[in-house]
Formats: sequence, structure tokens, C-alpha cells
Amino acid sequence: MSNDPINLYDYEERAKLTLPHNDWDTIDAGAMDMFTTRRNRTAFEALTLRPRFLRTVEERNLSTTVLGEKISMPVVLAPAGSHMRAHPEGEVATARGAGMSDTLMMLSTSSNCSMEEVSQAASGPLWFQLYHRGYELTEMLVHRAEEAGFKAIVLTVDTPVPSPKERDLRNNTTRTHELGNFRGMDRPRNEISGTDETPGWDVSRTEPLTWSELDWLRGLTQLPLVLKGIRTAEDAHVAVESGVNGIQVSTHGGRQLDMTMGAIEMLPEIADAVKGQAEIYLDSGVRRGSDVIKALALGARAVAIGRPLFWGLAVDGANGVHGVLELMREEVDRAMAYCGQASVEDLDPNLIGIPSDWGSGSRMTP
Ligand SMILES: Cc1cc2nc3c(=O)[nH]c(=O)nc-3n(C[C@H](O)[C@H](O)[C@H](O)COP(=O)(O)O)c2cc1C
Repeated sequence: MSNDPINLYDYEERAKLTLPHNDWDTIDAGAMDMFTTRRNRTAFEALTLRPRFLRTVEERNLSTTVLGEKISMPVVLAPAGSHMRAHPEGEVATARGAGMSDTLMMLSTSSNCSMEEVSQAASGPLWFQLYHRGYELTEMLVHRAEEAGFKAIVLTVDTPVPSPKERDLRNNTTRTHELGNFRGMDRPRNEISGTDETPGWDVSRTEPLTWSELDWLRGLTQLPLVLKGIRTAEDAHVAVESGVNGIQVSTHGGRQLDMTMGAIEMLPEIADAVKGQAEIYLDSGVRRGSDVIKALALGARAVAIGRPLFWGLAVDGANGVHGVLELMREEVDRAMAYCGQASVEDLDPNLIGIPSDWGSGSRMTP
């Protein structure tokens, strides 16, 4: 019997056995009742595939580009804080794993390793995820990211206030690892810390950015701008009008606002609103190759995984991250063959069966 993980859930199970209880809870948690976290999955599961046969699929091309960066498959790593929670080498190990799989890593503002350390370790493209921490710190972070060779800024927009997880509060979890991007800066922790630190909700109270300030942000850098966490056609419209280069449809893994639809359910209306004027990516609940195909067919250019990268890290550091990504690659590849598809860039909505009541949480007709 093989002892190797054969799917992402095997990594999840092993990570749960490996990690200290509180660290596991922090990674696994969602906001409140975790309805949205579950719905991210059930919404994927409600979609079916409509395979086509007797087509030439011996050679399947999984490679694509994101904002001009070539990647070997349309699966990338979502930004997430504190990788040292899962492995002592933290984001440096994650970057190595992503590089081994020749794909993109998005690095969180709240990383334990600094962006310069990660950039040194990376062999694939990097994007920098920005949490606005006030004008001065944001400017510093953006300039450093550009200098360190990051290829885009990903502004997370879905976290106007902190979102402590109830499991963290119950466990009285505190963050102990340093925030590498602020090393040596002599700032109080609550000015620089992540959005879900506990106890006491003692985290940054920085006023969030607003649409009118995006011009200011864009003026700081030549790098393209992606907005992460857009959930509606209305916001997607404004985003495109503001000239953003990419939109990452995401529920933050259900970790911030509970009681929304699953991310995949938001994708069709957003793709409709964007009309090809910006690239679209999706994260939240992606666990299978078929999920990737569903998201791409409905308008995403690539998908990102969050919790699974921690599972890989916890099980085997850089090799574990690589292992998770390679399992995804195999599954995407096989699903492509079974669906009669030769290129990930050619997937279209006809590939997907959508139940009539799916995604029906849209707006009321005014
Ligand atoms: C432990 C953890 C920390 C995270 N930290 C960040 C972060 O610092 N910035 C951010 O934009 N998203 C963060 N996220 C959200 C991820 O980028 C992503 O949206 C989410 O994990 C995707 O859902 P999935 O975990 O179901 O794949 C975090 C997610 C987890 C699990």
C-alpha cells in the first residue's frame, strides 16, 4: 500500500495530526458559523461537468499566463499570513515549493519571512498581497515589493475590520512569529499586525482605503494592481472603471464575512460585468482538479489555494507544497482529458451543468 498522499484531503488529514491543536484551528477556521466556508465547497459540488469525447486530447496544455507571467498550470498559491505556523522555514519553503511546480506565489503582507527573503528563495513569479496599514507603511511596502522583483500588487479589499476567529478566541491563541516585512521597524504590534490577531482584537485600526484612493495607490508603482475579495458585479464594474488589471473573486476562504454565497457562485455575474477588461482569478474552496476546470470554464484565468498550502507545508515543507500542487496538476490534466479539452485557455461555460437554483442568492429585483 502506498503511503504517499493521493489527494489534498490526505494532506489535510496528515497536517491535522502533525500540527499543534491551536495552529490547526487557526488555519482551518472560518468566520462565525463557517457557513460560507462550507458553501465554497457545496457550490462547487453542485456544478456538474459535461464531457465531450472522440476529440484529440493526447497532448494537453495546462500552461497559461497571469498578467503576462507564464505559469505551468492555472493553479497558484493564495496569500496567507504566518506560514511559520506550519513549518519553521515559513514562506521561504512555500516559495521553493511553488518554484518547483513552476507557478505563482502571492505573498501576504503578514508573512513571517520578509519579502526580500522570499524573493531570494523563489524561482517562479511572485505577487505581493497588500493589507493597507496606513499611507506611510503602504508606500514603504509597495516600493519594497517593486524593488524586490514582485510582479503585481494584490490589494485585499474584503477586510475593512479585523475578523478574529471564534476558535482562536476560545483557544486564546496569540501570534508569536515575527512579521518579517516590518522587521526592525520598532512599530507597536497592533499597527502592523494581521487582521485576525487575538486576543482582544488588538489589531490595526487603520482606516481602510476607498475607491477614490486607488489612484493614489496606483501612483506609487508601475506594477499592475489586482483587487482580491470582490464579491459582486457592482464592485467589479467600479473596479474595471478604476482601471485595475485583475480581480480575484474570493470569500477569503469564508474567514471574514460569514453568510455569503460561495466564491464560485459569484464568478458568473462578475465575469459578465468585467467583459474581459481585467483578468479574473478565483480562490476559496478549490480542492480538486474538477474545481479548477469549473472555475476556468466560468471565466477565471487561474485559481488559488489557501489552506492546502499550509497542509503541504506542515507535512513536508517545500516538498509538501510541491506535492499538493502536483496532485492538483494531475487532477486538472486528467479531468481535461476526460472532458475532451486540450487547452486550459479554451474552456467555456458549455462544459458546465448549472442547476437552475444554483447561485440564486443574487440581488432582489428592485
Ligand atoms: C491561515 C490563513 C491566513 C490567511 N491570510 C491571508 C492574508 O494575509 N491575506 C489575504 O489576502 N488572504 C489571506 N487568507 C485568505 C487566502 O488568501 C484565500 O483567500 C483563502 O485561503 C482561500 O480559500 P481556501 O483556504 O478554501 O483555499 C488566509 C487564509 C488562511 C487559511
